[in-house]
Amino acid sequence: MRTSIRTRLLASLLVVAVASAAVLSWYFLRELEAYGLRKLEERLGSEAFLMAKLVGETGLESPSAVGNALQEASEAVYSRLIVLDARGVAVADSAGDTELGLDYGERPEIIRALSGEYGAYTRVTDDGRVALYVAYPIERDGDIVGAAYSSAQTFSITTLIRDYQGRLLTIIAVFAVVTLVLAEGLSRWLSHPLRGLESTATAFAGGNHAVRVKPAGSRETYAVGEAFNLMADEVGRMVTELKEEERRKSRFVSDVSHELRTPLTGIRGTAETLLEGDVEPEDERRFLTTIVRESDRLARLADDLLALQRIEGATGELPLRRVNLREVAERAAEALEHLTEQRGATVVVEGEAPDVLGDPDRLQQVVANLLDNASRMMPGGGTVRVELARHGEEAALSVLDEGPGIPEDAIGHIFDRFYRAQRSRDRSTGGAGLGLAIVKAIADAHAGRIEAVNRPEGGTRFTLHLPAIRDDR
Ligand SMILES: Nc1ncnc2c1ncn2[C@@H]1O[C@H](COP(=O)(O)OP(=O)(O)OP(=O)(O)O)[C@@H](O)[C@H]1O
Ligand SMILES: [Mg+2]
Repeated sequence: MRTSIRTRLLASLLVVAVASAAVLSWYFLRELEAYGLRKLEERLGSEAFLMAKLVGETGLESPSAVGNALQEASEAVYSRLIVLDARGVAVADSAGDTELGLDYGERPEIIRALSGEYGAYTRVTDDGRVALYVAYPIERDGDIVGAAYSSAQTFSITTLIRDYQGRLLTIIAVFAVVTLVLAEGLSRWLSHPLRGLESTATAFAGGNHAVRVKPAGSRETYAVGEAFNLMADEVGRMVTELKEEERRKSRFVSDVSHELRTPLTGIRGTAETLLEGDVEPEDERRFLTTIVRESDRLARLADDLLALQRIEGATGELPLRRVNLREVAERAAEALEHLTEQRGATVVVEGEAPDVLGDPDRLQQVVANLLDNASRMMPGGGTVRVELARHGEEAALSVLDEGPGIPEDAIGHIFDRFYRAQRSRDRSTGGAGLGLAIVKAIADAHAGRIEAVNRPEGGTRFTLHLPAIRDDR
């Protein structure tokens, strides 16, 4: 399980607080202890020094007198004072006469003092107290006749700490509570914008792609909020595109199957009638013609779909060459001559356009599809004009007819796949509604555009604009 920011904050704050309190107090207590010991040593030292000088002056002829004086002063002096003779044996003691005669000669501080130097020593007693000992040599007429020995006990810091353990626990508990409150407040303050982010992200993941974060909090959480919003925009856009693509695909599939169904039903019905026999010879011929015509329609549909798929799939992969649009237009008119003648239409090619970079076969297909539509739209015959011109940096190829024009409500759809403005009528004349979709795909693949307008004098004008090759460069 993942721990929350609060728990982590709390844990780290506690560790930092307790550790720093412990280290700091340890350090300061040590310093304090060392300072206290130094002061104590100074004090013991001055008392021992004074005693050494005094006894040095008066001599040790009557140690009991010295002992009495020490005992009388013991209330006022801080340390226990002992006077030792030259062998280190106690001859006078501020604590009373009971320990007179004890030999301190083995102690290192006494050995030093009796050799004429200052001696000091620290001992830790069994009950954890620290005892400090200081000794000065007593000199008389240049000889060392004894030592002035002073000592005192003090509490060591460790003993003090042990004594105060109970209180220490209380202090740590108070510390922990304060830290807890602090961590709670801090974590609330820090994690508030993250909680907002979390709920927004959950809503987003749940499918609500409209939700956005209101960036807030520290610089980092603000940046995370902004980044989330950017990502959400991007994902939302992609989802919309995918849905649109999905919708287009399924519509395309249903369109295709619908288009296949009509000729197939025709072929099947006709073939069944023939199979049943009992058909007049002239009808038989008519039925067979229908079968051939519908089969052709199927084949053409397959070809068109394949062409469309190739052009749309091959972005930037067309074999490009320098193309003269007039030649393209004339070749297309020639190829369709039998068809247009049969429909009573005359095709005229006029004007010149600058050369373009393109695939001549595809461009010829554009003109052919436009001529096919134009001639089909003039049942009574007429003239179809192909006009070539320069429009600024562009070459323009227009196909004009004298037909009925495009209904206003259809003009936005004629470049869609399978779109036919006059469905019932065009079905019989064989159009699948793919011709202009192919034209548009080819125009797009050439970085050009195609537009259709109804001419004021009647009929339509389809214009293909393509970027002209600039010869001045
Ligand atoms: N010159 C035109 N005048 C009037 N309407 C037109 C003209 N050209 C096309 N249209 C309309 O646009 C529709 C779509 O044309 P498109 O060429 O894509 O399909 P089609 O000619 O019906 O079938 P296909 O080209 O696949 O044989 C046509 O059905 C027709 O209604
Ligand atoms: Mg067509």
